[in-house]
Amino acid sequence: MKSTKSNQGRTSRNTSKKKGWTKFVFFSDNHGDCENKEVTNALVKFISKFKPHWKIHGGDGFDIRSLRKGAIGSEEYNSLDKDIDMGCAFIERLKPDVWLHGNHEYRLFQTLHSSGNGIIRDYCKDVIRTIENTLKANGCKRILPYDADKGVFQLGPIVFCHGYTVNMRSVAEHASHYAPAGGACLIGHLHTIQQANAKKHKGCVGFCGGGLFEKDLMTYSHRHLNTSTWGNGWLYGWVKGNEWKVLQAHKVGGKWVAPIDFNPQ
Ligand SMILES: [Fe+2]
Repeated sequence: MKSTKSNQGRTSRNTSKKKGWTKFVFFSDNHGDCENKEVTNALVKFISKFKPHWKIHGGDGFDIRSLRKGAIGSEEYNSLDKDIDMGCAFIERLKPDVWLHGNHEYRLFQTLHSSGNGIIRDYCKDVIRTIENTLKANGCKRILPYDADKGVFQLGPIVFCHGYTVNMRSVAEHASHYAPAGGACLIGHLHTIQQANAKKHKGCVGFCGGGLFEKDLMTYSHRHLNTSTWGNGWLYGWVKGNEWKVLQAHKVGGKWVAPIDFNPQ
């Protein structure tokens, strides 16, 4: 995976540490009550060793499937209580510094502004308040909307967002669109583990880190061939000025592989 010596990137908005490297971890897509606890346990263990300066949640921390467009049968009438409880418990356990709402949280905002039923609108408002209060109570410094312009967090040469397209070129497309020259863009959304170099003057690289979901629990996805591309994992790395390094945590031979010994001098 690439690091860069380019000094031509956009102005770094959030990297203030001049000495040493800033460490981050980027995880996403635990999908409330569809969370894969085994993956979360591995992530928690990793964080305790890696000790990142920034814990960035890339969105879809809740599934909100009864508000999905086209939800039918049990998806539509099932209570969201367990989904909200598990998503909030995840926040309390991981304590993200930055939270990017994903397209699944966006369902709450969309329904809040479009439903003709006042009780449903009140319910959405309550759930949004519960999520955002839980985040703030657990030290979250930034809560960003699911918005292609505003839902973006930048740490030096690396831009983080949930993801706004789903196609074969999405990882490279997000890198071309968001990454500074010579930088990188990290997304969730696709649920796949991917890396792609993208066209840009001085280059850029896109990453998708997989997710923290349990695919078997996401019954609405079982009829889609693209779910065979899904994988569990998370991204992490280091930035210093315009230099960066990104690694992928994933399972090999039944064990999690996530080295923390990248130690540039
Ligand atoms: Fe997702």
